[in-house]
Amino acid sequence: MIVNRTVLTLDEFTIRQLRNFPQATGELSNLLRDIGLAAKCVNDEVNKAGLVVILGETGSINNQGEEVKKLDLFANDQLIGVLRHCISCAGIASEELEDFLSFDDVVSRNSKYICLFDPLNGSANIDTNISIGTIFSVYRRVSEKGKACILEDFLQTGIHQIAAGYIIYGSSTMLVYATRLGVNGFTLDPSIGEFTLSHPDITCPDSGKIYTVNHGNFLQFSEEVKKYIESCQQQSFSERYVGSMVADLHRNIIKGGIFLYPATIDKPEGKLRLLYECNPFAFIMEVAGGRATNGSQRILDIRPTALHERTPFFAGSKNMMDTLESLLLPS
Ligand code: AHG
Ligand code: MN
Repeated sequence: MIVNRTVLTLDEFTIRQLRNFPQATGELSNLLRDIGLAAKCVNDEVNKAGLVVILGETGSINNQGEEVKKLDLFANDQLIGVLRHCISCAGIASEELEDFLSFDDVVSRNSKYICLFDPLNGSANIDTNISIGTIFSVYRRVSEKGKACILEDFLQTGIHQIAAGYIIYGSSTMLVYATRLGVNGFTLDPSIGEFTLSHPDITCPDSGKIYTVNHGNFLQFSEEVKKYIESCQQQSFSERYVGSMVADLHRNIIKGGIFLYPATIDKPEGKLRLLYECNPFAFIMEVAGGRATNGSQRILDIRPTALHERTPFFAGSKNMMDTLESLLLPS
């Protein structure tokens, strides 16, 4: 097979971007490469998910007498395993772990970044072959290099993200990530096992005709949110919701649209997690030209107080967000 050198791999792309920063050490490229590596392993396992009928239900014992791990725990272990040995990551926090993890070896303690992730987002969709994803977020640690990570490293406001991204395990597998320089998407080419640049400089259209919300919760929304949804209906916008945030937001970033997960009577704090889901998507959305708020405040300005805190979340095309805010915020 002849390798097509006109394709730009994730690795090559991040290293080329380093040239914009002569003082850069390459640690971020290294971290992104390792996240890509873990994603390939998760992808492999996700692709086998349909075979659980043959291989055994997740959570059960397979015919070799080993436990078949639930996919979300597998993804979590994979990311931890890779990042623990990555020279750029001092510690992680994950939606699947109660507390953050500080990697306790000399190399990791001297790393400058920490990483937060939702290992398998939308995992309730696995059984029915609907796209799921991994979400990640990278910050420069605030604690002293050489020492163990501290909680404050993980409770930074979203505006301090150095990079954020997601992997979508869909009809193809893609890794999309944002830095302040832009948002770029890479599709996994299974024939060479590499993420290759397929969606350079992604921007979210200023307006769209898609609104994305769990309609089953409609009666539990505030009057203002209901009014906004009705305004979408009056304009015959399409409602699209699969219940995997990664898939729902990926579509809306590319096509233009708005995603709403408001507070409900049952969940007055909202459902989505600020650190693992909302901050990374707010960062990606803003770099792509869109916006993200909790209804009254920009997501990226919220000061987190706990690792697993939740927030109402609205994100999408700039003009649609303006219309939403004109209803939510008293003038
Ligand atoms: P997770 O699978 O990581 O727990 O998250 C699921 C989230 C998100 O992906 C999705 O947008 C939302 O939950 C769906 O919630 P509803 O079923 O309440 O609509
Ligand atoms: Mn989640």
